[in-house]
Amino acid sequence: VSDFVMPYFVVEGKKVKQPIKSMPEIFRFSIDELLKEVEEIYKNDIVAILLFGVPTKKDEFGSESYSENGIVQKAVRTIKKELPEIIVITDVCLCSYTTHGHCGILNKNKEIDNDKTIEVLSKIALSHAQAGADIVAPSSMMDGQVKSIRDILDENGLKDVAIMSYSAKYASNFYGPFREAADSSPKFGDRKSYQMNYCNIKEALREVEQDIKEGADIVMVKPALAYLDVIRAVKENFNIPVAAYNVSGEYSMVKAVAEKGWLDEKNLVLEILTSIKRAGADIIITYWAKQVVKWIEI
Ligand code: PBG
Repeated sequence: VSDFVMPYFVVEGKKVKQPIKSMPEIFRFSIDELLKEVEEIYKNDIVAILLFGVPTKKDEFGSESYSENGIVQKAVRTIKKELPEIIVITDVCLCSYTTHGHCGILNKNKEIDNDKTIEVLSKIALSHAQAGADIVAPSSMMDGQVKSIRDILDENGLKDVAIMSYSAKYASNFYGPFREAADSSPKFGDRKSYQMNYCNIKEALREVEQDIKEGADIVMVKPALAYLDVIRAVKENFNIPVAAYNVSGEYSMVKAVAEKGWLDEKNLVLEILTSIKRAGADIIITYWAKQVVKWIEI
C-alpha cells in the first residue's frame, strides 16, 4: 500500500467535485473538497499524492503556472498545513497552462524552445517547493530540466526537496482521458518532438541515465502496462527508485470493460498493479490507489 501515489486534479472554486467523463469515479476537486479527500485516503494508509492544476487562466507562455497564488501553490499550502505528514508531489509542466496546450514555450516557427522552457519549468518547481511540496515532478520531457530545477532549488535553500523525473515518458495513445481531465490537449500537432517514440527502449535508458546525472532522486517510466519491459530494464540497469505511472488510458480501459460486465474490475486491477510491481516498480502512481487499498488485505 505504501508504494501507491494517488493523482488529483485541482480546480478553483468551493465545493467543486466535478466528474471526468472518460475517467469514471475520478473528479476535479476544489481545494476544500480535495482536503477532505486527502484526509480520507491518508487514514487508509496512502502516503503520497500527485497534484495537477487545472487553471482558469491560460496564455501563450503559461505564466499562471508559477504564480504564488496559482491553484497548485494554494492547494499545496493548504494540504501541508492541515496534513503535514502526507507526501505532496507536484507535476511540473506547462500543458494545462498554455493556450496552445503544448508542454513548453514555442518559438516563431511554433516549435518548442527547449531552453526557454526549462527556465519556466524551474520557476514552476521553485514556486511549488516554496509552497511546501516535498517532491517536484517535471513531466515535459525537456532536455536539461532536472539540472536546471536542481540548481534553482539549491540556490534557494530547498536542497531537501526531491525530484521525481518523468524520465522515460513515451508519446503514448494512453493519455487521452487525462487530457480531458487536465484540459491539456495540444491544439495543433502532437508531442512527438519531446516525448519518446514507443518503438525505443535504449533511448529510455539514455534518458534515465541523463536524469540521474542531473540529480533526479526518482526516475519514472510512463505509461506502465504496455512498458513493463522498460520498467524492468531501468530497474536492472540503475540503482535508484523507479516509479511507474499507470496512466489514464490504462484506467479508463479497465473501467470500460468492467462497466460492460465483460471482466471483473477488482481482479483485473490487482493483476495489473501486481505486474507493474513484479516488473520492478518501487512506486506506482495509479488512479486506483484510493480504491485498491480497500481491496488489499493488509
Ligand atoms: C503532462 C502530463 C500528462 C500526463 C501526466 N502529465 C499528459 C501528456 O503528456 O499529454 C498523463 C497522465 C495520464 O494519462 O494519466 N505533460
